[in-house]
Parts: sequence; structure tokens; C-alpha cells
Amino acid sequence: IGPDVIDIRKLYAQTGKFTYDPGFLSTASCQSAITYIDGDKGELLYRGYPIEQLATQCDYLDTCYLLLNGELPDTTQRGDFHKLVINHTMVNEQMQFFLRGFRRDAHPMAVLTGLIGGLSAFYHDSTDINNPKHREISAIRLIAKMPTLVAMAYKYGIGQPYMYPKNDLSYSGNFLRMMFGTPCEEYVVNPVLERALDRIFILHADHEQNASTSTVRLCGSSGTNPFAAIAAGVACLWGPAHGGANEACLNMLEDIQRQGGVSKVGEFMEKVKDKNSGVKLMGFGHRVYKNYDPRAKLMQETCNEVLAELGLENDPLFKLAKELEKIALEDEYFVSRKLYPNVDFYSGIVQRAIGIPVNLFTGIFALARTVGWIAQLNEMIGDPEYKIGRPRQLFSGSVPRDVKPIGQR
Ligand code: ACO
Repeated sequence: IGPDVIDIRKLYAQTGKFTYDPGFLSTASCQSAITYIDGDKGELLYRGYPIEQLATQCDYLDTCYLLLNGELPDTTQRGDFHKLVINHTMVNEQMQFFLRGFRRDAHPMAVLTGLIGGLSAFYHDSTDINNPKHREISAIRLIAKMPTLVAMAYKYGIGQPYMYPKNDLSYSGNFLRMMFGTPCEEYVVNPVLERALDRIFILHADHEQNASTSTVRLCGSSGTNPFAAIAAGVACLWGPAHGGANEACLNMLEDIQRQGGVSKVGEFMEKVKDKNSGVKLMGFGHRVYKNYDPRAKLMQETCNEVLAELGLENDPLFKLAKELEKIALEDEYFVSRKLYPNVDFYSGIVQRAIGIPVNLFTGIFALARTVGWIAQLNEMIGDPEYKIGRPRQLFSGSVPRDVKPIGQR
């Protein structure tokens, strides 16, 4: 609580007055020590460490350890944590029968919401959110099993056999193999793609009180089990204004490409600026960043590396994205509203180049964000001031009235 922040709870206690703040534009729902964003500077820190340093000097599991424990691991802690996660990568064999109940063409986010929620039906010994041991083990299970479940959802959708985790691979390497390997041949992990994927995971690991994280906190605040709370986060992330933006962004780029590519960018931008068109430049704009999203810069770098590795330097969608960005950054509409590329603008191009299908992009985001959701959940439960989340409302409905007999209505 600083000079610019009012503790509204005190005002409420004294006056009974509460605030009206749709979309939580000016409401801090909690105190948090996990992630810091300076939206004007375009700065993002996890536990005080700049995202640029974490993305270039650490791997995703180091980042998970940091988010969960507040400090980066030393060598022993790192080894122990990696081993612990690896020990939990397999899922209960019955999960595959659960998965089989879905249509093969179901959206992976629908499947994942079900599978993650369903974990609470398989792991009864870690469902008490108020028990620190249960929270610890459910956290490890979720982080470890997410890649397995995402890959299973993918393999099920394309009718290929599931690949069991191979625990001598890195977290990201293992995921690549479960996604793209087959039992017929040895899968060799490409280190450039492995590193790119790991970076995607790091950049998406946490982002303070966004819609899905707030959903996880609110859901967990009722005392539900950790798997159910994370499933709620997955459901919220799916929306195109949030995690679904990477899928929506790639679909947008493909649409423009189909209509003529770079030559159609000007026409498309006119539609975006026309408020009646309902068209947005997906992957642009952010509630908090009023400057370049630092993750977008790192993602653009990764995009260059991956496309070069795969010999796709002339990828038309990448060219198109760069052209859209160039025009937007010079256009009064975007400049005056401080609209810059966000993390989703380039992440779709990287994922597509790796071979990840477009409808799985948000699933990859959910995989990476799971650790952030868990860290935020743990922080909330550990806070002595924590209460069930219960927003108020301004009632705008009918005055009291009597029910009329059906013939008189
Ligand atoms: N394209 C065109 N105009 C935009 C865009 C966009 N992508 N984003 C915002 N604007 C305009 C709005 O129409 C509004 O204009 P107005 O002042 O004339 O009414 C102004 O910029 C402010 O935007 P708001 O919608 O009020 O900003 P808000 O903070 O509510 O929304 C959001 C942020 C949802 C991210 C929005 O920018 C958006 O929809 N972007 C596209 C979707 C997207 O990329 N989402 C991913 C976010 S990052 C993440 O979740 C990982």
C-alpha cells in the first residue's frame, strides 16, 4: 500500500462504501511478491530477475523452482528438483480411457480442461489445498504431467500411439519427443528447437494477476482442490482476449496471407482501425504493457533462430508479421493508444515452425503457465489475510415484485 494506492478495506469498514471497477482496471486483488511488471517501461521480472536474463541463462525447470521457492536453485537443488519432476511425468494409465471418451476432433483446450480437472479423480492423496504437503505434491505432479497430457491430447487427435515420457531427456526435449516421436524410430531432439520451446515456456511461466491467474486464485479461494483450480485457469486462458490470442493471431496472419499477403496489409489495417468492423490486430495491445512487451522481443529473436535452423528464413507469415508490426508502430491509431506487439504476436510463428498445430498453441501456453498458477495459489493460501474471493455488484435489476399466476403474466 503506497502513496498512489488506497486500502479500500479500511474505507469500507469505516463507511460501508465499496468501489465499482468492472474489468478490475484499478483494483489490486492481492499483494504478491512473485512477478513484477512495469508496463510503461516494458519490464518483466520474476522474483526480481529480469526476464531477459532468465530466458538466456536459465532453463524452464530453474524458472519453475524460482517461481515456487523464491530463489534460483543451486547445483544440488537443481539436480534434486529435476529428478523430482522427472519422477512424476507418467500419468495414471487409466487417464487414457478418460481421454478416449472425447471426440478425436475436439479442441485440445476442451480436452485439457477435462483432463486437468480429472487429475483430482486420480490423485486423491494431493487434493487438500490447505495441506502444504498436498500442495507440494500436486504442484510437482501438475508441472511434470502437463507435457504428457498435452502430448497425449495431440496424439489422440491425430490417431497416433501415445509416447511414454523418456526421462533422460530435458523437460522440453521430452515434450518434443512425446509430441513428434513414434514407436517406430528413434527420435533425435533438435537442440535449437528444444531451446526455443524451453524459452517459450519461460516467457509464459507467470504474468502476475492476469485473467487466468485471477481465476485460479478465485477458484482456489473457495478451498477447492489444486487440480480443479488449475483446470479453471486452463478454461479461462482459452479465450481469444487472453491465451487464445496466439491461435487467433496465427489464424489472422494466415487469413491475410490467403487474401494476398503483404500487399493486403494496408487494407487490413484500415479494417482494424474501423471500430465498426469488430476486427482487432491480434497479438497487439495489453492491459498492463503500454510499451513493447519484453517477451515479444525475445520471441522475435527465437523466431529468427528457429526459422534459420529450419531453413525457413523466407517464411511468408514472419514477413507479414514484421510488416504489420512496422506499420502499426508508425500509425497514429496504435501510437496514441500505446498498442505494441505482445508475446502472442511471434510465438505462433515459432510454434508453427516447430510443428505444433495451431489449435494446440493455447495448450502450450497452459503447460507453461501452470507453474505460475501454482505459485500464485500457494502464495494466496500462505497469506494470513487470505479470504474467499467474493466481488460485490451494483444491482441494476427490477425492484421487488410479486409472482403473478401463470394466466395473468
Ligand atoms: N487492435 C486494435 N485496437 C485495439 C487492440 C488491438 N489488438 N487492442 C486494443 N485496441 C484499442 C481498443 O479498441 C481501445 O480503443 P478506444 O480507446 O478507441 O476504445 C484501446 O485500444 C484500448 O484497448 P482496450 O480494449 O480498452 O484495452 P484492454 O486493456 O481492455 O484490452 C487486450 C487489452 C484485451 C489485450 C486488447 O489489447 C486486445 O484485445 N488485444 C488483442 C488480443 C490479444 O492479443 N490478447 C493477448 C493479450 S497478452 C496475453 O494474454 C498473453
